Formats: sequence, C-alpha cells, structure tokens
Amino acid sequence: MTRGWTAFVLSVALAVAGCASSAPTSVLQQAERFGTATALPPADTAGSKLLGTVLAERRSLREFANEELPPDVIGQLFWAGQGETDAAGHRTAPSAGALYPLELYALTADDFAHYLPEGHRVERRGDSTSLQGLADLAFGQEFVSSAPVVLVITGVQARTEAKYAAVAGDLMNREAGHVAQNILLQATALDLVAVPVGGFDPAAIARLLALGPGEEVLYLIPVGRPG
Ligand SMILES: Cc1cc2nc3c(=O)[nH]c(=O)nc-3n(C[C@H](O)[C@H](O)[C@H](O)COP(=O)(O)O)c2cc1C
Repeated sequence: MTRGWTAFVLSVALAVAGCASSAPTSVLQQAERFGTATALPPADTAGSKLLGTVLAERRSLREFANEELPPDVIGQLFWAGQGETDAAGHRTAPSAGALYPLELYALTADDFAHYLPEGHRVERRGDSTSLQGLADLAFGQEFVSSAPVVLVITGVQARTEAKYAAVAGDLMNREAGHVAQNILLQATALDLVAVPVGGFDPAAIARLLALGPGEEVLYLIPVGRPG
C-alpha cells in the first residue's frame, strides 16, 4: 500500500508541515512524525450503485489482484464499518446502547493502521505486520496473505458490560456482524472482492497485533481488487 499512501501523505505533509523537504513514506509514518492522527479523505456518503444491486452482487471471493488499495478506498471501507454519521457520534453500524465496543484496523504488507471514527482519522500502530503470520493463524488460509489489505474487527467487551453485564459478549459479537456486512457491501459497491473470515486463533492474533488487555479479535476481512 506504500505508493498510494505516499501520494496521499505528500499532500497532507505539505498542508500540515508547510514544507516537503523530507516527506515521510506513508500516511501512518506521517501521523507518527506529527504525533497525531491523520484525517482521511472525506468519505463518499452517496455511492454510485443501488443497494439492491450491491446486495445481489455481494459474494465471498478470495482471489485478489497484486495491487495496493489507495488511502481513500481503505478510508471508505473504514467509514462503512464504523464511520460517524451525525453530530452525536452515532455510526454507520448500530450498537447496543450506543456504547461502541468495536475497533477497526487495516493491515498491509507495510503498515498497521487504527481507525478513529471521530473526525474520520487514522493512527499508526506499527510497521510491517506479517500478513503471512495472519494467514498462518487463520489455520493456513493462504488467501489472507494474498490480499493487499486485511481489515480486522476487534471488540472491547468491557465497554458494553458497563450497561449490559452478562449479555455483553453476545451483543458485541452481533455488532461485529453488522460492521462486517457494512464493509462487505461497501467493498462490493466499489467493485472490490472481499470475504469474511471467522476461522482463526483469536488469542494468537491478538498477541501478533499487540492488542491491549481485554481487546478480542472478532473478524478478519481480506479485501482487494479482483484477481
Ligand atoms: C461467521 C462466518 C465465518 C466465515 N469464516 C470463513 C473463513 O474462515 N474462511 C472462508 O474462506 N470463508 C469464511 N466465511 C465465508 C463463507 O464461506 C461464505 O459466506 C459462504 O460460503 C457463503 O458464500 P457467500 O458469502 O458468497 O454468499 C465465513 C462466513 C461467516 C458468516
């Protein structure tokens, strides 16, 4: 994903820093350099395909072109999953009690990015996370490592437990389904291919991604252009 992010970050770096003497190589490195999260390009809230068409076209597909996805496309997928849609902070997907226990990440060969719904921003979480490592922990489902980006949905159950106690885990898992479907439909609307992956070792992937205590991996969604 480096070239796409690089083009994006050059414009952001110029705007933010006022000079281009040593442009960082990705939007995430730029975010780290300025010690702040970086705004993504505005989401497309209209779309060009009718919902019925998108529903009819959605399919789980696992063959990806060897082509990076640009930042605006990854940003649009983030927005579809968890973007804010009103001033009160409600999001594209429903959430029990509006407690929003879910987090969204994007992994590529180069970057590990965390989506911040407030302000439609992204923050850097690390460099080159191994997509092959992710595929290995998905019980060897090799197509996971051949996608240019894998979206990861995680959940922090404690946020929902505060109000819903014993049923919080069930509610959180249902919410992950809403978010995944939003992302899958958005991918379809953008003529991308994607597949929801539930077959993996969640504890091992949480360690691979160095997630905090209490944050569980709920779903992987490899996405790319059709192969
Ligand atoms: C909860 C869940 C977990 C899934 N896990 C995997 C998986 O680990 N690997 C995979 O290749 N497909 C996975 N899938 C995709 C299904 O195989 C796919 O949805 C099914 O074959 C129906 O095809 P369709 O999605 O194209 O309608 C999963 C789907 C769901 C809903």
